[in-house]
Amino acid sequence: MKRSLSILLVAVMLLSVVLAGCTVPGTSTGGTGGTGGGQLIGVAMPTKSLQRWNQDGENMQKMLEKAGYKVDLQYAEDNVEMQVSQVENMITKGAKVLVIASIDGESLGGVLEQAAKEGIKVIAYDRLIKSTPNVDFYATFDNYKVGVIQGKYIIETLKLDKGEKGPFMMEVFGGSPDDNNAYFFNGGAMDTLKPYIDSGVLVIKSGQTDMETISIMGWKASGAQARMDNLLTAFYADENVDVVLSPNDSLAQGIVASLKAAGYGSASKPYPILTGQDCDITNVKHLIAGEQSMSVFKDTRTLAEKVVGMVDAIMKGTEPEINDTKTYDNNVKVVPSYLCDPVFADVKNYKELLIDTGYYTEDQLK
Ligand code: BGC
Repeated sequence: MKRSLSILLVAVMLLSVVLAGCTVPGTSTGGTGGTGGGQLIGVAMPTKSLQRWNQDGENMQKMLEKAGYKVDLQYAEDNVEMQVSQVENMITKGAKVLVIASIDGESLGGVLEQAAKEGIKVIAYDRLIKSTPNVDFYATFDNYKVGVIQGKYIIETLKLDKGEKGPFMMEVFGGSPDDNNAYFFNGGAMDTLKPYIDSGVLVIKSGQTDMETISIMGWKASGAQARMDNLLTAFYADENVDVVLSPNDSLAQGIVASLKAAGYGSASKPYPILTGQDCDITNVKHLIAGEQSMSVFKDTRTLAEKVVGMVDAIMKGTEPEINDTKTYDNNVKVVPSYLCDPVFADVKNYKELLIDTGYYTEDQLK
């Protein structure tokens, strides 16, 4: 009797641990503590296919629930229509605030007009929502600074600031053309590198620099791999590429795959300097293996915390914390923003940034 009771107890404990560990997208029952009073908050994320958005969604859900809100968390498989209908559903369900990481920044005007009619406030999450007056706040990282960090890294690693003349062969990739952030990343990096491109120390052998040509739709690794394959075949048959400016980690994954297939990673063909952003697990492994040179760490916990603070302020009728009122013009208005600080990451500091702070475990990076 005693034995079967203790088995039952262990089983109940195990079940509750399993349940507590699950964060399944959908409407949660919501926490009872905190200030949220069980009000519904809609959180629309672009896709589950990229690691960061899973983390963003989970963090938002956890923190909002802890503050006492119910959460409707949805992922849209990078499908614009799906995201629009998910947001429509959130409105119908009575969400009080919508937090949206858009897929296509230009496509939410209609559904947000509906939200505005219902008096629902809207926070653009990470990516700016454009061409609508119905976005109230924007929380993101300093996207221009992400590009500056990448550009500076290239300059310092090649010692261009110490007078090194090269010339070094470089290629440039751009993010998804429907994502406003892509232009900021590119602007920050290219403005920083411009003096060295103008003076011929950095040579973009393909000549391809305009966003129309270099951008990769949907931030797809496969798209970046295909473009890198083409560049290597067309321009680097008898010369190595020295630098690849990649705006983020998903593109860097495709670029590494292409470089590997072309025989890079040996003494005569060392990996080029390759930039990234996000510190995705795959890419931290690339850093450790010497296949990618750096990434930019954007702690999704910080962003989620800021957004939950914004939601709370809106619900209490107070002013959310804002630190930028100039940068993010969405074609209708400048959206009041909070910009978090992106941080340089490489093989030397990843442990301190990612493991010591509990972002990843050491095992995840093996
Ligand atoms: C985000 C990046 C991310 C990219 C692809 C951008 O909007 O700011 O962190 O790598 O989307 O998902």
